[in-house]
Amino acid sequence: MNKTRQADLGTPGVGTAATVVVEIDGRKAEVTKGTSILRAARETGVDVPKLCATDSLKPFGSCRLCLVEIEGRKGYPASCTTPVEDGMKIRTQTDALARLRRNVMELYISDHPLDCLTCSANGDCELQDMAGAVGLREVRYGFDGANHLDAEVDTSNPYFQFDASKCIVCSRCVRACDEVQGTFALTIEGRGFESKVSAGIGESFLDSECVSCGACVQACPTATLMEKSIVENGMPDRKVVTTCAYCGVGCSFQAEMKGDQVVRMTPYKDGQANHGHSCVKGRFAWGYASHRDRVMAPMIREKTSDPWREVSWEEAIAHTAKRFKAIQEKYGRKSIGGITSSRCTNEEVYVVQKLVRAGFGNNNVDTCARVCHSPTGYGLKTTLGTSAGTQPFDSVMDADVIMVIGANPTEGHPVFASQMKRRLRQGAKLIVVDPREIGLVRSPHVEASYHLDLLPGTNVPIINALAHVIVSEGLADEDYVRERCDLDSWESWKAMILKPENSPEAVAKVSGVDADRIRAAARLFGNAPNGAIYYGLGVTEHSQGSTMVMGMANLAMATGNLGRSGVGVNPLRGQNNVQGSCDMGSFPHELPGYRHISGDDVRSQFEKHWGVTIDPEPGFRIPNMFDAACAGEFKGMYIQGEDLAQSDPNTHHVEAALSSMECIVVQDLFLNETAKFAHVFLPGTSFLEKDGTFINAERRINRVRPVMPAQQGKQEWQITQELAQAMGYPMNYASSAEIMDEIAELTPTFNNVSFAFLDEVGSVQWPCNEAAPMGTPIMHIDHFVRGKGLFVETDYVPTDERTNRKFPLLLTTGRILSQYNVGAQTRRTANTVWHDEDLLEVHPSDAEVRGIKDGQLVSLASRKGDITLRAKITTRVKPGVVYTTFHNPETGANVVTTEYSDWATNCPEYKVTAVQVAPASRRSNWQEEFAARAKEQGKIAIDAGR
Ligand code: SF4
Ligand code: SF4
Ligand code: SF4
Ligand code: FES
Repeated sequence: MNKTRQADLGTPGVGTAATVVVEIDGRKAEVTKGTSILRAARETGVDVPKLCATDSLKPFGSCRLCLVEIEGRKGYPASCTTPVEDGMKIRTQTDALARLRRNVMELYISDHPLDCLTCSANGDCELQDMAGAVGLREVRYGFDGANHLDAEVDTSNPYFQFDASKCIVCSRCVRACDEVQGTFALTIEGRGFESKVSAGIGESFLDSECVSCGACVQACPTATLMEKSIVENGMPDRKVVTTCAYCGVGCSFQAEMKGDQVVRMTPYKDGQANHGHSCVKGRFAWGYASHRDRVMAPMIREKTSDPWREVSWEEAIAHTAKRFKAIQEKYGRKSIGGITSSRCTNEEVYVVQKLVRAGFGNNNVDTCARVCHSPTGYGLKTTLGTSAGTQPFDSVMDADVIMVIGANPTEGHPVFASQMKRRLRQGAKLIVVDPREIGLVRSPHVEASYHLDLLPGTNVPIINALAHVIVSEGLADEDYVRERCDLDSWESWKAMILKPENSPEAVAKVSGVDADRIRAAARLFGNAPNGAIYYGLGVTEHSQGSTMVMGMANLAMATGNLGRSGVGVNPLRGQNNVQGSCDMGSFPHELPGYRHISGDDVRSQFEKHWGVTIDPEPGFRIPNMFDAACAGEFKGMYIQGEDLAQSDPNTHHVEAALSSMECIVVQDLFLNETAKFAHVFLPGTSFLEKDGTFINAERRINRVRPVMPAQQGKQEWQITQELAQAMGYPMNYASSAEIMDEIAELTPTFNNVSFAFLDEVGSVQWPCNEAAPMGTPIMHIDHFVRGKGLFVETDYVPTDERTNRKFPLLLTTGRILSQYNVGAQTRRTANTVWHDEDLLEVHPSDAEVRGIKDGQLVSLASRKGDITLRAKITTRVKPGVVYTTFHNPETGANVVTTEYSDWATNCPEYKVTAVQVAPASRRSNWQEEFAARAKEQGKIAIDAGR
């Protein structure tokens, strides 16, 4: 058997602790009650042959290879579909069974190409293993009769192929697509000998509904469905367990290696966030790490119009320190700052904020969470006491009603979406609150009970109206509130929520959602034994983002839906380590663990440990840095793995700020859009080289392990450490494990965490300390972290961004499955086959009045700027609303977004921009300038020998 294959117990566990005693091949064994004989035997070390069974799928009983004999029963039952019973006497190896199994295998092999030695699955093929296990020595039937050996190979998917000649029609792929992924893309077409796996009617995999998650490839016991990377490079020879570097689900993977080369990423079955599943990005889109665009040597230049000059690490770091020190001397201590990256490890982030506070001597540090989930931190801390989600992902399996607000899990958090869909197929009800008809609203075997398709910017009135119905109809859980919450705040909130302007009828006028539907959705949620709320950037990226987060916390408290499994308020975090980068003290007002910088006690702990005096004044947030830069007061920035020029709103303003600075340092894999404004480029490491931890959306601290050395010669924490030293601040870690030890020592919620502990237990959810030595899957169980839960009044203050005759439509933005954020990684993989340009979704009625045809170029103009892109006409958006993604820099979606932001946290209002759309025939002026700059910078790079 292949060295990297993960153990397979044949059928899923049954999730009970009760046991029975059985006898297997003469040996007594205590096994789990209700489990299959196949699993029970495998758990006790007896490998009953199997083909159609695997422990990620329900037993199917089609291959007849796992037959056993049971004393007192006639025939040979399939062990995968027969549960154990107390006292059962089972025999797995008899002459009769051996004969039967050989006959079965003979039939399979007689219609299978005998090219094992040259087959890509050689050494990792269950069919081959089973032929050996049953002792097959000859095949009596020749290949002369009808067979499938000439079946065509479908190579349409960029990452895996389907070689029908090797298919044994075990159905594992079909069941994986149904049960694990929930896409239902595959079927078995035809009957008997004609049966074959099909991805849609006469369609290739690429053209079918398949979302390329790879679950079928993983489930296939033969070489029929096989990764192209294995076909090309052969089988791996070692494995390293690590964590995906894309979204906040935080899937664990086994990186399968051949020498120093990754040949396959296999979702790790023991991964506590993903349980062996993955999406197309984590499983397949890792090729960017070795893309030729990756910069491998540090570079500097005086002016941004100069060519880059490759220099040694020593020179790059000494040059940067000299420039930063000179700027501080000339413009003052607060004239420089740093940005931490939510793509980097906690350890890498921690040292950047430490460099800023201890080395730069100010608190001008911020993170890309500013532009996504900062309102989550503010809103949940204010109401509940902790800046993080309340549940583990598995909690969704206990939810009765699931409310998804401003999130698109099937595209943004696909593995969690698959789990949620599994729960919905079991009967849980779904409410979707989103301006757009996201995939969850209607997909195979899943349909939302209510889709509240509100106008962008009206989340707060909707959540208030839902609460209004719940309170006015007596659906609130008053006992829970009395016991757990601050009663003064409850009374004043109740008075606010019962005001007529929060009634469904009044809110219908503002939000565009019928009062009846609001009322019905509220009743469904209010009556649910367990109601769970999941939300995303469609909640936070508004001028009332923090108000809405508090509105959801209010609703959850009012209905008693916090503090147990199946409930909660759960942010679906965008980036792999956005939770961690916030936890690590990346905000200008907070030290690690969300402790305010003005707190003398907290500051003095860090001061003692770091040997410096820390400024008690909060520093600049990102937008303040830009404003100060435009005012000539902020001159230098150390930017760790973040593309501000592409991802921040109001591109013209961002570009003006970046252009006005004297020393911009970009630490990244690629020369991103921000690097076009940079003076120093410090090459970073990919997740395959990092040694550290990421924290996912459920507060789970996962290990990221290096599968290869840092390709550019240094770990990122080492780069930051050397810069700190060059700035005159002594930073002397010997390893990233030491950095985590310091984090644990200084941060109460991390006290028990260390690399050694994580390696032992797999992962833990913080808080993990003396009070919770094994971590805290569910928050707020007996009481809220802040003591009593605080209801906060959530009066609706509409955004200043309004539609008018000139800009009559509302633009909202989002992302799609195959691409990731600004696309720096996914655009450098074959994922571009699914999305190579950003499109503008327009409702047919809005298209018709403007004379816009599907696929036509259109201009998208706001008060801030205009861009040109292609229109996609669809009823997924309602009339009056248009939608686009922001994955391609040349699209420039943020040229049109505004500077409006959340009142509490400055999180930009990406989700509401008043726009006009009209047919166009050319790129916008900004796009022309962008193309010219890209050409010039490309030329500079070539001149510099890159
Ligand atoms: S890759 Fe995923 S979605 Fe596609 S057919 Fe296989 S299981 Fe289904
Ligand atoms: S493709 Fe693989 S998993 Fe699917 S039926 Fe054929 S052999 Fe079984
Ligand atoms: S769901 Fe997120 S973490 Fe999991 S594989 Fe996909 S991108 Fe990676
Ligand atoms: S493994 Fe039991 S019938 Fe196939």
